[in-house]
Amino acid sequence: MNPPESDVIKVDLHPISEDDDIGFFACMTIDRPDKLNALNAEVMASLKAVCAWMESSDGVRVLVVTGAAPKAPLEGKRAKPHAFVAGADITEFAGAGSGVIREKFRDNAVEALWNLSKPTIAMVDGFALGGGCEVACSCDVRIASNRSTFGTPEINLGLIPGYGATQRLERLVGYGKAHEMIMTGDMVPADEAQRIGLVNHVVSPEELEDTVFAMARRIGSKSSHALRVGKQTVRAALDEGLTDGVELEAVAFANLFDSEDKEIGVQAFLNRETARWKHR
Ligand code: COA
Repeated sequence: MNPPESDVIKVDLHPISEDDDIGFFACMTIDRPDKLNALNAEVMASLKAVCAWMESSDGVRVLVVTGAAPKAPLEGKRAKPHAFVAGADITEFAGAGSGVIREKFRDNAVEALWNLSKPTIAMVDGFALGGGCEVACSCDVRIASNRSTFGTPEINLGLIPGYGATQRLERLVGYGKAHEMIMTGDMVPADEAQRIGLVNHVVSPEELEDTVFAMARRIGSKSSHALRVGKQTVRAALDEGLTDGVELEAVAFANLFDSEDKEIGVQAFLNRETARWKHR
């Protein structure tokens, strides 16, 4: 049950409910604040390990992904800015050829995050650039502080996004805005990110954790079976045509009528009780 920890990723467990033993949500913090939490090889390996642990830990129901806040600056030094993740670690790109990068980006941790069957929420406070924007896009929900900034600045390095933004960002904001972001590399402030559908909610930095944790608890209190089927079925909309997707939803919906949780949920509603799910 203990989460994997490393020098660059911390995982804290929080109870879903104070008065009911229904498991935990995990808050995973990418912890390289001096480098704006940039994704180096160690972070990617640790992120993958956390995803594997999440998938195999029955009692852990929701994953929150965030970046560490800046440390207090050394005397006479400038404070580092707040960051979710400021992208792939650019120092690892210097001198690298396609063979190295193909290997590094194949079967990567951002895909592991995307492929988690459990709900995921990105808690963004600060820069979410390049791979950081892509980590956020690989979560199911994004909640940001109003001082956050999103962007895909790879074009300024003579590159394009490599952790799925051409696909997942495009699905969130549409191809016109995705083209603009990828072609200009311009930063998108949080309020605009919300307007274009890139983030679900924008709140003050002081409200961010409470808002995200409250949603993690709300989602974590639902039937994990229904959540998994819901996530799979919404994801199908990205791959299937509309007609096939609606057909798939009809099958998934009908199948849920054979689940114990459906009867538990319906009876709880009829009896004005709180559902006590079989699949917690
Ligand atoms: N990879 C490696 N290191 C990074 C990084 C990245 N993606 N982003 C920031 N850093 C490091 C900086 O090199 C700096 O390290 P140092 O203090 O040891 O010199 C530290 O993080 C702080 O960043 P700094 O650039 O000094 O902060 P700033 O407030 O002046 O600017 C940004 C902030 C986000 C605008 C700027 O850091 C930036 O443009 N980062 C790169 C973003 C990017 O291109 N991401 C996509 C990569 S594919």
